[in-house]
Amino acid sequence: MALSPVLLSDFRHTRIPMKAIRIHETGDAGVLRLEEIPVPTAGPGQVLLGLEATGVNFTEIYSRTGFYQTALPATLGSEAAGTVAAVGPGVTTVRPGDRVASVNVLGAYAEYALAPADRLVPLPDRVSTRQSAAVLLQGITAHYLTTSTYPLQRGQTCLVHAAAGGVGLLLCQMARRIGARVIATVSTEEKAALAREAGADDVILYTQADFESEVKRLTAGAGVQAVYDSVGRTTFAKGLNCLARRGMMVLFGQSSGPVEPFDPQILNQKGSLFLTRPTLGHYIATRAELLERAGEVLGWVADGSLSVRVGQEFPLVRAADAHRALEGRHTTGKVLLIP
Ligand SMILES: NC(=O)c1ccc[n+]([C@@H]2O[C@H](COP(=O)([O-])OP(=O)(O)OC[C@H]3O[C@@H](n4cnc5c(N)ncnc54)[C@H](OP(=O)(O)O)[C@@H]3O)[C@@H](O)[C@H]2O)c1
Repeated sequence: MALSPVLLSDFRHTRIPMKAIRIHETGDAGVLRLEEIPVPTAGPGQVLLGLEATGVNFTEIYSRTGFYQTALPATLGSEAAGTVAAVGPGVTTVRPGDRVASVNVLGAYAEYALAPADRLVPLPDRVSTRQSAAVLLQGITAHYLTTSTYPLQRGQTCLVHAAAGGVGLLLCQMARRIGARVIATVSTEEKAALAREAGADDVILYTQADFESEVKRLTAGAGVQAVYDSVGRTTFAKGLNCLARRGMMVLFGQSSGPVEPFDPQILNQKGSLFLTRPTLGHYIATRAELLERAGEVLGWVADGSLSVRVGQEFPLVRAADAHRALEGRHTTGKVLLIP
């Protein structure tokens, strides 16, 4: 939405309406409702963003279904990129007109949204605003998973589940960039081709073949040093059997549902394994860490060494279709909403 300078200066004092996708109760994608609500006012330390693109992430499906607790009613969405429309009291780090992105937007399924000024990432000239919305959250996730949670080394082997997904395609590229061998799992031939393009050395169709025996075959029984598992319920137990001695199970999501309760003795029996359940917020808790990771990811996009695939874009008003596509396994790469 184009903003006149007069409107910009009036943001603190008027109740201009905007479109937003809200939920009043949890449930299937049908609970996502298009509403007109006032453009919010930036408080101290906050910035009002005019959004150009909003990232759709699985976490919003968890909030919508009630798997993650969310205070209702709520405007979903935390990842977006756009232009600073107004700044609240005390904000000196950005100015109206600056292009920024954030993974901490307060209600990003909307035309405008607030974000804390200290959670904004400035965008490099060579990265478009849409590309930034498409890569920030999943790119930083792939970055911390491969460099900090299990810091992959050249020559090691990792298993990446759902490798043609938003995080998956970025994980494959970052693991390959380090020099690791990537074994990927996906559900279809089309997704297999995308995983290979992203650098996967071997791709297993885990809907057709037993990925555990395939990983053992591909590694001559040695197993992998790390499993990056965002799928959860349907992959977790077999993934443990794919690990080499003292390998690490990095369980970072549950697209297929939550993992069953787990006896830690299993880690002992299967080779002194490590299990971690990391989450993005703890790896960008300080502004310095946020800027360092975001800077590296956006830098790779700018120099062309990290490719960002936007598989599908939906107009904001079709947010429910975006959710259906993502939870129905019909998407590849990033899903964006365009306000
Ligand atoms: N911990 C963190 O910091 C963090 C950050 C970002 C995302 N995540 C998590 O990472 C996961 C992936 O997120 P994403 O946004 O990149 O999504 P995504 O991987 O693009 O989409 C989910 C994929 O999971 C696979 N899948 C397997 N079984 C499924 C099932 N029963 N239902 C739906 N999908 C299934 C599908 O790929 P196939 O068709 O190939 O099986 C599907 O395309 C989510 O669980 C998300 O919460 C965690």
